[in-house]
Amino acid sequence: MAEINETVSRTFDEYLLLPGLTTKGHYPEQVSLKVPVAKYRPGKEEPYCLGIPFTSAAMQSVSGPDLAIALARKGGCSFTFCSQSIEEQAAMVRKVKEHKAGFVDSDSNIAPDDPLSKAIALSKKTGHSTIAVTEDGGRHSRLLGILTDKDYWETKDDPRLPVRYYFTPLERLVCAKEGVSLEEATEILHKEKKECLPIVDDSGNLASLVFRKDYFDHKANPLELTDEKKRLFVGAALNTHDYLKRAETLIEAEADLFCFDSSDGYSEWQKDAALQLRDRYGRKIILGGGNVVSADGFRFLVEEADLDFVKVGIGGGSICITREQKGIGRGQASAVIEVAAERDRYFQETGIYVPICSDGGLNNDTNIIMALALGADFVMMGRYFAMTEESPTPKVNYRGMLYKPYWGEGSSRARNWQRYKESDKDEDAMFFEEGVDAYVPYSGSLADKVDTTLAKLRSTMCNLGVLSMDKLHKNARAVRVSAMTLVESGTSRVEQFERMPTEKL
Ligand code: IMP
Repeated sequence: MAEINETVSRTFDEYLLLPGLTTKGHYPEQVSLKVPVAKYRPGKEEPYCLGIPFTSAAMQSVSGPDLAIALARKGGCSFTFCSQSIEEQAAMVRKVKEHKAGFVDSDSNIAPDDPLSKAIALSKKTGHSTIAVTEDGGRHSRLLGILTDKDYWETKDDPRLPVRYYFTPLERLVCAKEGVSLEEATEILHKEKKECLPIVDDSGNLASLVFRKDYFDHKANPLELTDEKKRLFVGAALNTHDYLKRAETLIEAEADLFCFDSSDGYSEWQKDAALQLRDRYGRKIILGGGNVVSADGFRFLVEEADLDFVKVGIGGGSICITREQKGIGRGQASAVIEVAAERDRYFQETGIYVPICSDGGLNNDTNIIMALALGADFVMMGRYFAMTEESPTPKVNYRGMLYKPYWGEGSSRARNWQRYKESDKDEDAMFFEEGVDAYVPYSGSLADKVDTTLAKLRSTMCNLGVLSMDKLHKNARAVRVSAMTLVESGTSRVEQFERMPTEKL
């Protein structure tokens, strides 16, 4: 007969945190959100860290290069998805790595004879108010001038006239030569009181643009996560099929973190793949794995597969129907609590700390805070990031509200067959879905969203009387809530005539 574990499988909403003593030294600006991302020996080695405890899910509708760039600028890391060809994934990694902070590849370009209407449409589509005017409208063609929204009035000027009629021509622009440093470019912008500095090569072709606003943006993102060459951080998901070739190509593309993407990581497939990669690359790569929901799953991935971090969570994802389809999984809070306890036991036994990541099912900021307080070192989120401007899907207007498409890697849309098949042998096995194809409300820029969540996290940490993530783990005290406590937690006996739409997200 089956062994029955009588403990109840619980979710984050079933817990509340108790405040600890907040001293006069506990204020949000003092809080450090740095977290280790790879196993290390505390006291003996410096950990390899994320600036904030956030990673984005390795999913087609989440982790494209724009999102990876925006998240790394905030201090987190995206995992580019492996449900695409090796070359496509490597191109994404390269795009992030080539994103030189400050030097922007011009995405909005136009030819001088194009009508103003085309420039206005382009500006609306990309959201860019500065358009480079090049000989043939190409991004690296000969630069002829710049058109900004200050050069025309949409409601007054004739949209049929060519752009050359409105733009600021090259002779009236201040430009700099390719090879100029970012500091020098910033100095020029400052001295010349300009908003944008085009960078051109020796033949006068447009190389990139430097914007005044990016300087302030950079100052506003002190936690930006970069490698030793000051390039933004980016992760890459691997599967257990083409991992040797994929890892080799992604290492060449200089991805910073690797992780197996699997709905069930407690498997010999993952162990074999991890050991082969370790054999080949040693500790030169940071390699995580998962997902597991129990102490024995954690032990297996750490002791037998030698992984650097372990992802926790099966069946909790917002687009996930794994539990419905197959009956496996566990409430995310119970999974995190059990695995975190095992991580701490493993640390007591060996002196090695193995970070864990709570993956999926974080439905709001409180769930994120609870996952971290209950023991996760960092979180991985799909829906949260899919909703942002920077996710790779287009905005869709439905009955006056904006949405973004979001689908599971186990949905037939993703056709990520490798992630969900049982073994290496069943290429032709029957496909059944483990994820749905859906929409999520559009929530604006990633930066604003992450800033809001982090402000709440820092504030909660001050309530608990802690200023660092390891202290949060040590000092957090949580209580279980009753159904009536949940009712009490909402508003009561007041009328709210109108709620801001974001409160419902
Ligand atoms: P979310 O943050 O709740 O949207 O969950 C995202 C997580 O769900 C991912 O990081 C994956 O672990 C998991 N996931 C992604 N696609 C699927 C799927 O199709 N079925 C089940 N789980 C999925």
